[in-house]
Amino acid sequence: MGGPHEKLKLALFATVATVAFGGGAAQAAKLTLYCSAQEDWCQLMARSFEDATGIDVNMTRKSSGETFAQIKAESSNPKGDVWWGGTGDPHLQAAEEGLTEPYVSPMRAELHPWAISQAESAGDRTIGIYSGALGYGYNTELLAADNLPEPQCWADLVKPEYKGHVQMANPNSSGTAYTTLATIVQLFGEDEGFEFMKKLHANINQYTKSGSAPIKAAARGETTIGIVFQHDAVKQAVKGFPIKVVSPCEGTGYEIGSMSIIAGARNMDEAKAFYDWALTADAQNLALEVNAFQVPSNVNAKTSDAAPDFSKIKLIDYDFKKYGSSAERKRLLQKWDEEVSTLPQ
Ligand code: F6P
Repeated sequence: MGGPHEKLKLALFATVATVAFGGGAAQAAKLTLYCSAQEDWCQLMARSFEDATGIDVNMTRKSSGETFAQIKAESSNPKGDVWWGGTGDPHLQAAEEGLTEPYVSPMRAELHPWAISQAESAGDRTIGIYSGALGYGYNTELLAADNLPEPQCWADLVKPEYKGHVQMANPNSSGTAYTTLATIVQLFGEDEGFEFMKKLHANINQYTKSGSAPIKAAARGETTIGIVFQHDAVKQAVKGFPIKVVSPCEGTGYEIGSMSIIAGARNMDEAKAFYDWALTADAQNLALEVNAFQVPSNVNAKTSDAAPDFSKIKLIDYDFKKYGSSAERKRLLQKWDEEVSTLPQ
């Protein structure tokens, strides 16, 4: 006895037992999960946790920025218990605004340092569950059919020949797109970065709500290029679509996908049970069943051979403290709304 897994099993059983047999009328234990990773992964996490614990899970998938806005709107009467997945920046903002609950899981010892530092920088109100590098993907058949050169850099995406060929999400709703905005500002500086976003706007055919939608559209042949996390582009390539993944030549940003317990959660014991379970290697290995190719935060979890190789990606030193702060995220989004999204295309 005594390993973290056995302790966790006991803790999970204690939670289920308390909820199932404790105090009076038997009420099925339940959990309301807000999920901001890919829909199929969210479903699998919810069903697998139900199987492991008997706790009923009511799961809703929304993008990272949308979930942040929902948790904030519900803060006087919280309806969600755990927010699992989505880019770390809005989780950090939620932590700063006191919308999420401090918690130190017994599973923390099994995590990579980058996942723990995410927690430490936020007073333990959030934690890293995976990481992934930003980039883009393109449909090789459409590119060839239109006689377009193979893009390799961020700078390529603003060239006039790609007009109408690029899709990305809206940074207000999507964590992927906010990571893009913050990455461009960090790579090129704020003034040049906003000039870049304006030129890019001229080439964009649609801003989607969800971050991975543009690469799904590229896979279906509805756009040539989609700006997404590289793992989301790999997923479409692995499915057999003619998608090539690009790690931009100038370097790129990345996410620390995160998890937080919502402050004032109605089902706090179940929320902690989910949180501990979601940090186990077994739960994180579920990612491979749905071709989710992020790097898991548990050191014992498996990473697929198909996953983007971080050692070959030129990563910037993404400043999570700054770009995950409430003031900076609000300011950048407002500036993008006023100076970029309103421009004619
Ligand atoms: O699961 C796919 C994924 O790209 C995650 O890596 C990321 O945290 C999340 O989606 C972001 O989604 P959105 O951009 O819709 O907020």
